[in-house]
Amino acid sequence: MSEEMMAKRPTAMVTGASGGLGAEIARILAQEGFDLLLVARGEAKLQALKEELETVYGVEAQTFPADLAREDVALDIYDYVLGRGLRVDVLVNNAGFGDAGAFHQTDWKRERDLVQVNIVALMQLTHLFVPAMVERGYGMVLNLSSVAAFSAGPFMSSYYASKAYVLSFSEALSEELAGTGVTVTALCPGPTATGFESAAAMGKGSTMFRHAASAADVARDGVAAMLAGKAICLQGASTKVMAVGSRFVPRAFARKLAMRMNR
Ligand SMILES: NC(=O)c1ccc[n+]([C@@H]2O[C@H](COP(=O)([O-])OP(=O)(O)OC[C@H]3O[C@@H](n4cnc5c(N)ncnc54)[C@H](OP(=O)(O)O)[C@@H]3O)[C@@H](O)[C@H]2O)c1
Repeated sequence: MSEEMMAKRPTAMVTGASGGLGAEIARILAQEGFDLLLVARGEAKLQALKEELETVYGVEAQTFPADLAREDVALDIYDYVLGRGLRVDVLVNNAGFGDAGAFHQTDWKRERDLVQVNIVALMQLTHLFVPAMVERGYGMVLNLSSVAAFSAGPFMSSYYASKAYVLSFSEALSEELAGTGVTVTALCPGPTATGFESAAAMGKGSTMFRHAASAADVARDGVAAMLAGKAICLQGASTKVMAVGSRFVPRAFARKLAMRMNR
């Protein structure tokens, strides 16, 4: 980092910061001394987190309530950042959700929103903020993928596919940007105790969430991997087994196993 950059506290932008993993990631980044820009729809929750971060960690936090399912909302966020003279050094593309059910019976708007939030907004924010990071020779991107990236996922088909996209996209960018000072990390957690299960309408107590990891543990490992510049973070022992195991079992076996867990 240049002297001019060091004079200003680095800023991290976290999408989906109103709860779950995003809020935990924001807490850890505040603890690390980053100012925060918090993005999600839930304005009251963002405001409460802003006050907590400022009081507990003495950093500056700003909120930007936004629905990432709205086309081109990333441009509004970008304009806000430029208008406020902020510098995004860390971009955490965490906002995302799943949708359980047989694809032919799901709601189309929800499917479209899933792709917009999990994929398009993530890509567009990366496309908007990474060029300045490269110019400055410093920056980090943390993208939320999932263990779901390693197999097809019947009865949660578009969610699994979206996370495979995020993993592939992030891995490719991490290579493209090698040597620029900008790193891209894909965080792949397994089932984690957050609002995800109910947001995905999976029904409380679905098999795979019985031994869910804590959001604080997943966030801590994800931020550590990002700060270390790793391309992929497979969080937790069972995630590592599933991700590595998926290379050695037939794809049909992996997708049938995923189907059993999703039903
Ligand atoms: N929990 C798991 O088991 C698990 C496992 C692997 C990967 N992940 C991934 O981790 C990420 C975080 O999920 P989580 O587990 O923390 O779930 P969560 O508790 O449901 O949090 C999801 C976050 O995304 C935000 N979000 C959802 N739709 C949005 C929209 N249209 N516009 C803006 N923000 C939106 C939510 O905020 P608002 O509702 O306030 O907008 C919330 O802050 C997701 O990408 C998820 O796919 C989760």
